[in-house]
Formats: sequence, C-alpha cells, structure tokens
Amino acid sequence: MKYRKLGRTGLHISALGLGAMQFGWTTDEAMTFTILDAFVEAGGTFIDTADIYSNWVEGNPGGVSEEMIGRWMRERGNRQDVIIATKGRGRMWEGPNGEGLSRAHLIRAVENSLRRLQTDYIDLYQTHWYDAATPIAETLATLTDLVQVGKIRYIGCSNLPAWRLMQALWASDRLHLARYDSLQVHYNLAHRAEFETELREVCAEYGVGVVPYSPLAGGFLTGKYRRDASLPESVRVRSVQRRYFNERGWRILDALDSVAQDCGAPHSQIALAWLLSRPTVTSPIIGANTPLQLASSLGVLDIVLDETHLARLEEASAII
Ligand SMILES: NC(=O)c1ccc[n+]([C@@H]2O[C@H](COP(=O)([O-])OP(=O)(O)OC[C@H]3O[C@@H](n4cnc5c(N)ncnc54)[C@H](OP(=O)(O)O)[C@@H]3O)[C@@H](O)[C@H]2O)c1
Repeated sequence: MKYRKLGRTGLHISALGLGAMQFGWTTDEAMTFTILDAFVEAGGTFIDTADIYSNWVEGNPGGVSEEMIGRWMRERGNRQDVIIATKGRGRMWEGPNGEGLSRAHLIRAVENSLRRLQTDYIDLYQTHWYDAATPIAETLATLTDLVQVGKIRYIGCSNLPAWRLMQALWASDRLHLARYDSLQVHYNLAHRAEFETELREVCAEYGVGVVPYSPLAGGFLTGKYRRDASLPESVRVRSVQRRYFNERGWRILDALDSVAQDCGAPHSQIALAWLLSRPTVTSPIIGANTPLQLASSLGVLDIVLDETHLARLEEASAII
C-alpha cells in the first residue's frame, strides 16, 4: 500500500479508500467483514461511509453501514489502525430538523454516528451535500465546536459546486473556523466535467485533498459492460446504462481495451491508475462486493501508465 497526505493536512491515508455504501445493501455482514479484513490486510486504512447508507433499500433505515463497521472495529480491536470517514446531511429522523446542515441536525447526527460506529471520534466528517437553507457559517461553527471537543478530527465536504466550496473556504478563513480539507467528488474517466471544470482549480490552489467517489463508474470501467453483449448481474445496471451507454462511453471502453492489453492489466486497474495520476487526487474511494473485486482494484498500486497510454485515455474521454 502507498499512503498520501490529505491536502494540506498532516493526515496520511491509504492511496485507495474503501467505500462502505454496499455494506448491508449488496453485501451481508459476513462478506462485509471479509472485505474489510482483506482491505486492512493489504495496508488499507481509509474507509468511507455515511449515516444514510443505505436507506434507499427497502427495510434499511440507514445507519446500517456505520453499525457494521462499528461491530467490525470492536471485534477486531483495530479502531486506532483505520481512518474512519463518514458523512451527515441526509434525512435520518422525522421532523423539520431531521436533515440538513444546521447546528440542530449536525450535533445529533454526529452523536448518532459515533454511537453506531462504537467510537468516540470520527477522523474525517464530511457534509454529504450542501444545504442551501443553512448559512455556511452556522455549519462551519458547529463543526468547529465538534472538532474542539474531540468528536471530529478533520472536516471535509462532498457534492457542491466550486462557488460554494470557495464560499466555505473564505468563511473559515474570515471567521477563524475549521476548514474543509477534503472534497469527495464524483470523478472518473467517464465523468470528468463535474470536477475538472472548476473544482479542480479550487482544490489545487487551496490544498484541498480530493477523494473521488465511483472511480470505476459503478462497474462500467471494469469492461464488463459491452455494446453488443448481454448485461451483467448488478443492482447498478440501470444507472450504469443511463449514464454511460453512449458514444463517448464506448470510445472510452475502446481506449481502455487497448491500454489494458498493452499493460497486461485489467480495465479497472487502468481506470484507477489514470485517476491516481491526476495531480490533485489523493485517494479514490472504490466499491467492492467481493474480495476478488477488491483484490483486482488493489492491483493498481503496481501500475504506472506511460505518456502514450495517458494520452490515449485523455483523448477518448475528453470533455465534450
Ligand atoms: N459522496 C457521495 O455522494 C457518494 C456517492 C456514491 C458513492 N460514494 C462513496 O464511494 C464509494 C464507491 O462508490 P461506487 O460503489 O459507485 O464505486 P465504483 O468503484 O465506481 O463501483 C463499484 C462497483 O463496481 C463493480 N466492480 C468493482 N470492481 C469490479 C471488478 N473487478 N469486476 C467487476 N465489477 C467490479 C461492483 O458492482 P457490481 O458487482 O454490482 O457490478 C462494485 O460495487 C461508495 O461505497 C461510497 O463510500 C459517495
């Protein structure tokens, strides 16, 4: 495993993060523990979850992924060895303050995450997406208080446009509050514009660490989806089809085919290697439903793409 510094902070995290959205959704508890064990065995430290995971699944009230990670850390006695990142913002209880980034919501949400995770601190607490109804100064002041009492160590954000990130960075600076030191953003070879258009420059200029989510485009960049073949078994089939089944998507797969063949490596590793070669990227957050999928992604750490490979991928995935 390699380790990278998260933005301008002194915190080192593994160069690949493990996403926990599938825990309790597409993986049961036994498989969740197996995947977490394999990740840590390979030197992985950075684990990303959220309080709402996975409340879109029937019968799942949210909080299930955090609970599983909590039980796993308790059983393994390894809390000190991992970097736990979680998120708050989504609806977690009934009533007017059951969601959002207000002081009323965040304090209760953090307390609940700590209880589910069976820990007394969260390494990286991220605002899951922005809340237009709450002043950013209220959110940042609340997070600062939580940092000061030791419940949170670093703060980060996710899913917000560049102007809102700038607004938050300026507010932290002006009001001497804790600062967003990481951005969790949807970013992969087939989904570039959201990050590269403006957020990338903000993150580079202000030293904000970037932890991209869905780095394999939900499985599309593994090469198992094909223009003229039957669809693979996955709960993600519909969203993958909707987002990536288009001419640009197929062009990217053609480029991945050729680079993967040159390198003798699976498509997923080439897609992750491209992401890891981006100067602003700290640690892509991968999803894995099996130890085999995890092992395949971890193999990226041995791959370095040369200029011609990078150029081929860049050209095929150019933002149009
Ligand atoms: N901040 C946010 O709003 C947000 C949003 C989404 C995700 N996230 C975070 O990012 C994490 C990762 O997201 P993601 O699951 O979309 O990531 P991803 O890495 O793009 O996709 C992972 C999925 O691809 C398939 N896959 C992975 N390796 C494979 C292999 N070797 N062969 C074949 N298929 C393979 C698996 O799905 P199948 O087996 O079903 O095909 C797997 O669940 C989440 O767990 C979460 O922590 C955050």
